[in-house]
Amino acid sequence: MKIPYINLKKQYALEKKKLLKIIDKTFASGNWVGGDEVTTFEKNISNACNVKYCVALNSGTDALTLSLHLLGVKRGDEVITPPNSFVASAATIIHLGAKPVFVDIKDDQNIDENKIENQITKKTKAIMPVHLTGRMCNMDKILKISKKFKIPIVEDCAQSILSKYKNKFSGTWGDVGCFSAHPLKNLNAMGDSGYVTTNNKSLYLKIKNLRSHGMEENRNDISDFGHVSRMDNIQAAILNFRLKNLKQIIKQRRNNVNLYLENLDRKKIFFPKEKFDEFNTYHTFVIQVEEREKLIKYLADNGVGTAIHYPIPIHLQKASKFLGYKKNDFPIAEKQSKKILTLPINQFLRKEEINFICKLINKFYK
Ligand SMILES: Cc1ncc(COP(=O)(O)O)c(C=O)c1O
Repeated sequence: MKIPYINLKKQYALEKKKLLKIIDKTFASGNWVGGDEVTTFEKNISNACNVKYCVALNSGTDALTLSLHLLGVKRGDEVITPPNSFVASAATIIHLGAKPVFVDIKDDQNIDENKIENQITKKTKAIMPVHLTGRMCNMDKILKISKKFKIPIVEDCAQSILSKYKNKFSGTWGDVGCFSAHPLKNLNAMGDSGYVTTNNKSLYLKIKNLRSHGMEENRNDISDFGHVSRMDNIQAAILNFRLKNLKQIIKQRRNNVNLYLENLDRKKIFFPKEKFDEFNTYHTFVIQVEEREKLIKYLADNGVGTAIHYPIPIHLQKASKFLGYKKNDFPIAEKQSKKILTLPINQFLRKEEINFICKLINKFYK
């Protein structure tokens, strides 16, 4: 059996007939930058997430950058965030001249909300929780801290479209939610794309303006120098089509997780259980194991692709040297980085394939 970690070719093969019609129609409309599909996408996301506003952008990275900038983050400021995210979370803070102040994580890979307050200083201008793997952070506590210190929250929702905490969607807890629609995400474009959600009208209007040279409504009057961070009409058309199937995709991914959990012998494997107040969408299915490198090789030798999200915590990356962090600063994140292993979870997996992977893993640990 050959089981790839991801299977975008299969996704395209299944969608091809309908997708090509949509692509043709969108190109034929002549609206390639901006257009009806973009506006429809923004309405669709607002409805799906139960939030007032959405702005379609070119990437999750620009969603974070524009949001942090508009909330006032600038040179010399600090932003609190976890060290185990995808590098873009910290990079956006650094590009604004601010410093990512890392806070260690919990068993479930998310920021430890009880360690945030200690890191707040006069320079803290935002808190950026990351809902890693499609599991939301403890937003109740983070919101309380935000209110107490009057520090805005920029949720990194790149991996958490339609995830919920206490029945409320990701991207609707903080001042702004920043999403990615990169091809590997549950709601994926065929290239780079992203979007923000917010209930703040002023922020919404400013992001809309900044994404397009600062000239969204009027090409001649520029009130603020902007960026080119727009979502293409063609990507919006693809996302509108795929959005119709998103709930089904999440259901399938959740079923796949359950199948793994039923069949894996969990004496040697740790997986943080879904809590009663969480609804996890499983952008990734990450287990924590001993002898990870040997297991990866064993699975690869048997045709199973895996991944690691992420093998080097951001504070230990070469690029972070100037921040002054060192080994053992974030012991939980560092320990986890050596144990985490992402198994295939995509919606195209067959039951037999998951059973096969479980049998291999159980055999490896016997
Ligand atoms: C947690 C996290 N933050 C930010 C990003 C950046 O998103 P994008 O690749 O769309 O720029 C990603 C996506 O890859 C991510 O997983």
